[in-house]
Amino acid sequence: MKGAHFPTSAAFAILALATFHLVSASDPSPLQDFCVALNYTAKSAYDAVFVNGKFCKDPKRVTADDFFFYGLQNTQNTSNAVGSKVTPANVEQIPGLNTLGISLARIDFAPNGGLNPPHTHPRATEILVVLKGTLYVGFVTSSTENRLITKVLNKGDVFVFPIGLIHFQFNIGKVNAVAISGLSSQNPGLITIADNLFSSNPPINPDVLAKAFQLDNSFVQDLQKKFGHDN
Ligand SMILES: *[C@@H]1O[C@H](CO)[C@@H](O)[C@H](O)[C@H]1NC(C)=O
Ligand SMILES: *[C@@H]1O[C@H](CO)[C@@H](O)[C@H](O)[C@H]1NC(C)=O
Repeated sequence: MKGAHFPTSAAFAILALATFHLVSASDPSPLQDFCVALNYTAKSAYDAVFVNGKFCKDPKRVTADDFFFYGLQNTQNTSNAVGSKVTPANVEQIPGLNTLGISLARIDFAPNGGLNPPHTHPRATEILVVLKGTLYVGFVTSSTENRLITKVLNKGDVFVFPIGLIHFQFNIGKVNAVAISGLSSQNPGLITIADNLFSSNPPINPDVLAKAFQLDNSFVQDLQKKFGHDN
C-alpha cells in the first residue's frame, strides 16, 4: 500500500527541503515540462497533506488558458493612502506558473509622490522596467552598514532589487508612472514593513514596537490605529 510509505517519504522530503534551502533561496527546478496548478479543495482525508507549491493538473487536461493572463495593460486606480497599486500575475492568477520559479507584476503610481512603500519579497529577486514616468527607487543592504543604494529611473530604465532586501519605488514625476516587475518565484511573497508590524493580527504589544523604533508608546498606538487596529 502506498500510504504505508508516507511517513518515511515525508521525513525524506522534509530533510531534502531543509538541505535545499542551504544552497538556494529561489524556487526548486521543475522535474517535468509543466505542473499546472490544480484549483484543489482538500478533501478531509488529505487535509493534513501539503506540498511545496500546488498539486498538478492532469497534463492531458491542460489548455492554453492555464498559461494566459489578461489585463496588465489596464491603468489601475491609485487613490489610496500610499498612491500606488500592484497588480500581480503570479501562480494565483496563472496556474501554469506552478513550479516554474517566475512571475510578473504591474505597478501603477499616482502623480507627485505615489509610493510603493518599503517592502521585501522573501522568495524573489525583482527586475523592474519603467514603462512610463520617473521613479526614485532603492534598497538597503543587510550588512551592519545598512547601505542605501538608490537610482532615479526614467522610461525604459531597468533596476534590480536583490532577494529579501527592503526596497521601495517612489514617483517623483508630475504624471502617473507605470512599471513592470519580473520576479524569480511563482509566489514571491510580500512583507510591507509598516503594514506587517503595525497591523499584525493580533497586534504586537506596543511596548515592543516603542522600544524597537525608539518611539513613545502613545505614538505607536496611534500608528497601530492608523494601520487598522483599534487598541
Ligand atoms: C478555485 O476554486 C474556487 C472554489 O470553487 C473558486 O472560487 C475560485 O475562483 C477558483 N480559482 C481559480 C483560479 O480558478
Ligand atoms: C478609485 O478608488 C477610490 C477609492 O476606493 C474611489 O473613491 C474612486 O471612485 C475610484 N475611481 C475610479 C475611477 O474607479
